Order: sequence, then structure tokens, then C-alpha cells
Amino acid sequence: MSQNSTGNLTEYYVKDDNISNKQEKYTYESLLLTAQYLLERISVKPQVGIICGSGMGAYWHEGCLADALDNRQEFPYETIPHFPVSTVDGHVGKLIFGNLSDVPVVCMQGRFHYYEGYPLWKCAMPVRVMKLIGVTHLIASNAAGGLNSDYKVGDIMIVRDHINMMGFAGNNPLQGPNDERFGPRFPPMNKAYNSHLIDQGKELAQKLGIQDCVHEGVYTCLGGPNFETVAELRMLKMLGADAVGMSTVHEVITARHCDMDVFAFSLITNICVIDYECHNKPNHEEVMDVGKMRQDVLKLFVKKLVEYISQK
Ligand code: HPA
Repeated sequence: MSQNSTGNLTEYYVKDDNISNKQEKYTYESLLLTAQYLLERISVKPQVGIICGSGMGAYWHEGCLADALDNRQEFPYETIPHFPVSTVDGHVGKLIFGNLSDVPVVCMQGRFHYYEGYPLWKCAMPVRVMKLIGVTHLIASNAAGGLNSDYKVGDIMIVRDHINMMGFAGNNPLQGPNDERFGPRFPPMNKAYNSHLIDQGKELAQKLGIQDCVHEGVYTCLGGPNFETVAELRMLKMLGADAVGMSTVHEVITARHCDMDVFAFSLITNICVIDYECHNKPNHEEVMDVGKMRQDVLKLFVKKLVEYISQK
């Protein structure tokens, strides 16, 4: 950084600071324009929004849920006005509209993460767009490390609740001026995950005969991109978290703020190492491998859940 004309470095730093603080947020009107762009192009308005994370085809096409939609219409993120663009290597990055079991849905294939450098309100922006195009229910999926000692790789954890670790550090997608057209300044979060949908998820697990690998638990999200240290994992476990990941919480907060019903689940792609003697290292490849391995069962699970939502 060079000095300014008065040679005053302090002044320079203050100016830089102002620029980052002024980072423009999406207004209600700018998001309406994004919604309008999509509404003018889609043939059916979706009722359910599905976020397909690392466990559900964010990195591949073949056999993934979004690929199974009928009457598909695809919008790569870079073609949608105001949409961020995914920067994770290999992440697909598309909004896909279509029918799942005759129910109109929209899938986000690939999401935005804090570790990519986006602020949380930007990561969660697509949820508000979904709301503005008429989506009433959000199904958010993620890949997560299992902290609960009952969990095995490939298990599904229905999210009962979350611990917003980034919120503890003063980082929240709802920070800044509030627009009441989305929701209240101080939204409650004690019923973040719809209990009817949780019950239905558990019932479905029974019906599909997968109840032994389906749990109900508490998810927590850290900013990433590094996986956690042993001490961090021990702390998270002590705090009551059953699984840890790098997404979802800010999307759920944003969805609840605008009164969407939320169901979320984690695919347990690795067991967290909380023992200094264990030399297993979590890695991104195993996250994707487990996702691919479990995609048929996840697809069926989501399909049945969507059928339930449409019949309610
Ligand atoms: N930690 C954080 N995020 C993750 C993990 C993990 O162990 N596994 C998959 N996503």
C-alpha cells in the first residue's frame, strides 16, 4: 500500500476500512429483479426449494437428485442477475427447476460457502430469491463430520437443531439493516426445524427400512475451509453438537426469517477424529465418495419428503 498525497498512512487505512464497510447488500428490490428474471422463464412455480450440498450432487451430475427432475430447466449461476458464482473447484453451480414426483421444485446444485470469501448474507441470498418466487418449504442437505459416537459413515442425521458458532463470534446473515418485507428484526429460532417434517423424516426412514442409519441430532457450522482440530472437535461435542460442517446454518436462519418451513439433513461423510493417537485425516475426496455411494437412498428420501410436503 502506498502513502496518499499527504503522506498520511492512517488516513489511507481509514478509507480502506470505509470501502469494506460499505459493501452493498442486496435490497428487496434487487432480489425482486432476480426473482422476476426467473419467473419470466420458468414454466412452473416451485413449492419446495432443495439445496444440494456436497453429499447430494454439488460436484457431479450423473445420478444426482437434480438430474432426476422431470421437465428440467437449468440456470447456471453466472447467467442469473445478481447471483454469486460458486468458486469451489468442481462445484456445479446451477439453479435447476423441474418436477420431482410431479411436485414443482427448485434445486440449488452447489451452494455458496463462507470460506469462499462471501459474507454470510451473500451465501444465503438464494434462499430469499426462492422465497420471492413462491417457495414455501426449504430442504437443505449437507455433508458433515460425525461427532456423536453412535454415528457411522454413510448415516443420515435429520437436523433437530443447530448451534450457530459463527453467530457466537458476531457473524450472522441477518446483520445490518432489516427489511420487514422479509421478516422481523429479531426472529425467533427455537423452532427453526419444522417438527412435523422431522417426524415425517423419521417415519419415512422406517418405511424405507433405513431407520438404523437415520438419526436426529444437532448440527453446527464453522467457517472452514480447514477441518477442525482435535481440541475444537472435543469442545463442539461437549457443547452438544452431533455433527459438524461448513454450511446450512446461515441458510436456515435466512429461511426462518422469511417464514419458510425448514427440513435439513446431514450425510455423515467421515467420523471426526477426537483422539490424538488416531492418524485418519478427513479430506474432501472421501466427502464426495460417500455422497456418491449414498445418492440413491438420499434421492429416495428427499423424493418421499417432497411428496409428503405437497400433500399437506
Ligand atoms: N468437518 C467440517 N465439515 C465437514 C466435515 C468435517 O469433518 N465433513 C464434511 N464436511
